[in-house]
Amino acid sequence: MKIPTKKLKNGFEIPVYGLGTWQMGGRENHNLENDDNKDIQGIKDAINNGITHIDTAEKYAEGYTEILVGKAIKEFDRSKLFLVSKVRKENLKYDDVINACKKSLERLQTDYLDLYLIHFYNPEVPFEDTMRAMDFLKESGLIKNIGVCNFTKERLAEAQSYTKNKIVCNQVHYNLIFREPERKCLLEYCQNNDVFLNAWRPIQYGDLLENIPPILSEMCDKYKKTPAQIAFNWLISQPYVILISKTNNHEHLEENLGALGWEMEKEDIERLRNEFPNQKDISNAVPLG
Ligand SMILES: NC(=O)c1ccc[n+]([C@@H]2O[C@H](COP(=O)([O-])OP(=O)(O)OC[C@H]3O[C@@H](n4cnc5c(N)ncnc54)[C@H](OP(=O)(O)O)[C@@H]3O)[C@@H](O)[C@H]2O)c1
Repeated sequence: MKIPTKKLKNGFEIPVYGLGTWQMGGRENHNLENDDNKDIQGIKDAINNGITHIDTAEKYAEGYTEILVGKAIKEFDRSKLFLVSKVRKENLKYDDVINACKKSLERLQTDYLDLYLIHFYNPEVPFEDTMRAMDFLKESGLIKNIGVCNFTKERLAEAQSYTKNKIVCNQVHYNLIFREPERKCLLEYCQNNDVFLNAWRPIQYGDLLENIPPILSEMCDKYKKTPAQIAFNWLISQPYVILISKTNNHEHLEENLGALGWEMEKEDIERLRNEFPNQKDISNAVPLG
């Protein structure tokens, strides 16, 4: 299937559904017991089913996840893929950003990233230096676009003030339960300032699919979709919102792709926004900073 894309005013275009890779190869550390083949096959399966946008990070499994992604993408046409990685907060000094990016490229066995993200803000490093390094990477062609993660709207505006390059996205924890981007007006800010809000953990590791509340059942019946498809579609039916979700399971992938190519009515987006139970104001994993 052709994954729909969204575009910024400057022409930057991104597929609305990206494949997450957190927990492939391990979590914080490389898991020596990991079933690497399952993860590699999972990534290949996603690409064979139309996914081009793949999200990873140097932090995941201490770089091992990038190695798995590199192995999985080897047989595909690189120019058709949209590869994203992230620099960890310990590497935000000027030289460290550049070195970190080069190491990510090596592990991924590629010459460039379509998008490079600052994973977390680090108050101990002058932010101008980090942004200067991001600009250098873009000018040298090692990255095509610059983005951030887990930034408040104030931090996002500050980051933009240090570069003439457009910051194209802010990747944050956002789903039917975790609403910090709404509560802190980040969603509105992104929509008004032509920046994508990329929702991570869109089904909250699958927790969102347990104990389905009546409002979600009602939407499933109305649209003839599963809870996962409603949860994903609620995100991408909103202007400027895209998402990334991890799976290495073919049935889940097929189900998740069924969330694309249709749009929920505005009224239902707002009902889910207002009536979905047990909402939380702040991320339980990575609050905006
Ligand atoms: N920037 C940041 O700070 C940040 C933080 C966290 C995550 N991320 C990125 O965002 C991506 C997505 O977040 P996430 O992986 O934490 O959470 P997620 O996508 O909400 O959940 C992934 C989990 O849900 C399962 N799953 C997927 N589709 C399913 C379905 N249809 N039915 C039931 N279970 C399903 C997956 O298992 P199976 O593999 O078995 O399908 C996996 O265990 C990450 O992988 C990572 O790339 C970024």
